Amino acid sequence: MTRLQAPRGTFDVQPADARRRLRLLRIAAELFGRAGYEPFETPVFEDTELFARGVGESTDIVQKEMFTFEDKAGRSLTLRPEATAAMCRAYVEHGMHKLAQPVKLWTWGPFFRHEAPQAGRFRQFTQLDVEALGSDEPSVDAELILLLAQLIEQAGAGPARLRLSSLGTPETRADYIDELTAYLRQREGELSEDVRARLDQNPLRAFDADHAGTQAVMAQAPRLLDRLAPEDTEHFEEVQALLDEAELPYEIDSTLVRGLDYYTRTVFEFESERLGAQAALGGGGRYDRLVEELGGPPTPANGWAAGIERILLAADSPDEPAPRIYLALAKPDAVREAFALARRLREEGIRVEMEQAGRSMKGQIKHADRIGARATVIVGDAIEVKDMDSGKQSPADGADDALARVRELLA
Ligand code: HAM
Repeated sequence: MTRLQAPRGTFDVQPADARRRLRLLRIAAELFGRAGYEPFETPVFEDTELFARGVGESTDIVQKEMFTFEDKAGRSLTLRPEATAAMCRAYVEHGMHKLAQPVKLWTWGPFFRHEAPQAGRFRQFTQLDVEALGSDEPSVDAELILLLAQLIEQAGAGPARLRLSSLGTPETRADYIDELTAYLRQREGELSEDVRARLDQNPLRAFDADHAGTQAVMAQAPRLLDRLAPEDTEHFEEVQALLDEAELPYEIDSTLVRGLDYYTRTVFEFESERLGAQAALGGGGRYDRLVEELGGPPTPANGWAAGIERILLAADSPDEPAPRIYLALAKPDAVREAFALARRLREEGIRVEMEQAGRSMKGQIKHADRIGARATVIVGDAIEVKDMDSGKQSPADGADDALARVRELLA
């Protein structure tokens, strides 16, 4: 029989990592909650059409990376490659425009993209995603950017470089894209084959090219930031002013290209200096037209997502498990007493495991040592407490005294 393994680009999360992930989740929930964001969950799969329309037909995600399948009724479904389209679908589906605006939501869970796996890039990965729907105020942009900066810092994944830009409205962008395409056509001979092939589909991607000739052409290309409408420039300046006020450093980077089509106005990305090629810890921006495109009322909105695996790769801080206590059985019929004592200690908030593998007394002490127990409570005709550091063992005067002694050792 062939040995079964986790599918390519996926991984098991073992306890040491699982603890770090949970700790990050707690940090996130606390941070987002304080800024008024509520937890929310959407399904792991959706109608394929949602992503085709929401993320954009010309994106790599929709063209190459979706895990799409047919259900038994012949419907085309897709494992979600990102959260924003589904959050907007949910906003429309539940009539959330009738709630107090902005509606602030966050979610976390598995996402799926059929990419070539490498360090920091997986086919199943985990995002923390934060969205604010129903406000075009620049303070929402700045608030969201700060939240991601704080998350990265509190996770110990800093320092991270913040790149910031504005894409303006779809109309400005369309005019700009015409201008850029015309410019690229003039210098077509100097561009990479790949960029040439996609020139009409997505000329903005040329800013991302590794090809030296293309890079030289792009260095002189017209910049979208210089073409923004006055109200978009003003909006962008206010976002910057708020970030300045918060003393959050950023770089204006007019070449910032996000891999999704729905963005308008502010876009941003945080990159870690500690990661290799896949350095983006998280990114996002405004998507002022998406809710409407998905059938809702005009609803300016804004958000970001961050990759948990990348944040934890950059953080490399271990999560120490809580100190543990072992309950050993000096005789087999001490099980009930030990079981009751374990319950009692757990109710008191102490991490306790009891003997459950039929070991000899010697084997139990060896096991307690191996798992790094701080103390072993031995239950038999009497209760004894063994300090595993000093090796000292002494009788306790009943369960209350054993508890008090354990507390002392854990203090
Ligand atoms: P994104 O930039 O495609 O944005 O993904 C956000 C983050 O998810 C990335 O910065 C990265 O950390 C992580 N990520 C993406 N793909 C992978 C992968 N294959 N393996 C590991 N980590 C990955 C979005 O998804 C947008 N929905 C963000 C957003 C929310 N914009 C507005 N609202």
